Amino acid sequence: MTERILVTGGAGYIGAHACKALARAGYEPVTFDNLSTGWADAVRFGPFERGDLLDPERLAEVMARHRPAAVLHFAALSQVGEAARIPGRYWRNNVTGTLNLVEAALAAGCDRIVFSSTCATYGDHDGILLDESTPQRPTNAYGASKRAIEDMLGNFAEAGLLRHVTFRYFNVVGADPEGDLGEQHDPETHLVPLMFDAALGRRAALTIFGTDYPTPDGTCIRDYVHVCDLVGAHLLGLERLLSGGESRVYNLGTGRGFSVREMIGAAERVTGKTVPVIEGPRRPGDCACLVSGGRRAEAELGWVPGRALETIMADAWQWHQGPGYAG
Ligand code: UFG
Repeated sequence: MTERILVTGGAGYIGAHACKALARAGYEPVTFDNLSTGWADAVRFGPFERGDLLDPERLAEVMARHRPAAVLHFAALSQVGEAARIPGRYWRNNVTGTLNLVEAALAAGCDRIVFSSTCATYGDHDGILLDESTPQRPTNAYGASKRAIEDMLGNFAEAGLLRHVTFRYFNVVGADPEGDLGEQHDPETHLVPLMFDAALGRRAALTIFGTDYPTPDGTCIRDYVHVCDLVGAHLLGLERLLSGGESRVYNLGTGRGFSVREMIGAAERVTGKTVPVIEGPRRPGDCACLVSGGRRAEAELGWVPGRALETIMADAWQWHQGPGYAG
């Protein structure tokens, strides 16, 4: 029998890529999404249940109807800048929403969850590579809300109520190479689509958020991982849980960092155009440097993020110019 997987946030950028990969691997992905940031037309690989994590009755109804074998939990508010301005929204949506989800899943007999956490839970560590045992000191409410969820899942796991695989994402970029799906947000706040829009003249310029960071060129360094590589790790994490594996936390990054200026160079190479820039102040909540040093996902799950920055940018650019991108 085809195993059903409940995918919260399945209409969003990463969740939709996960649904495609799940369907291709023989699972039935059931999307649960409130469409606050997702796109209904990205839900193409299984049933769609519109609903909100802050609505426990709706969650209970969906869980009872679909009886999923596991949950992949992508749904969250995830903008660092917004979190610094409106922390309460982040605590309510992310933490309370996840508690509702966990309780609804357990009530329906589903005790396996793959959770999307973030490198933003680490905070600033003077440029050292971050591995899974690096202390978590988030610098914004987004990272703090995700760390709180990690604690919550840890407590449920210690109580023997569920097993989880928690992935700490670094910066997820790129797009489905077949052109079906890609990154778009409304309003857009993420670096790669903003650089492309600036190159295309759809916006006047890209503002670089801070040029006085303690990094070689003064701009923030991030570890950019292709969305398809990242989603591949979710299938491996899911298999770990379905085959009885214990709860575990993994970093999902490549181990290579690129500054904002280096990313602008990569965008100019792939587009063949100039990205006009304005040098602006730092964005509240941003860390200078977030790069993964953890090899645990490779050692234990056999996960290798094989797509290099050139491939990431080529796939993202193809999507950005294609018919699916709303612009
Ligand atoms: N940046 C700019 N100008 C912009 C937008 C971004 O200079 O207009 C810079 C940011 O300061 C940062 C880098 O580009 O240094 C990447 O910024 P994004 O907004 O694309 O991504 P974030 O790093 O802020 O956040 C993303 C996800 C989070 C995740 C985080 C981990 O949205 O969910 O990566 O770093 F936690």
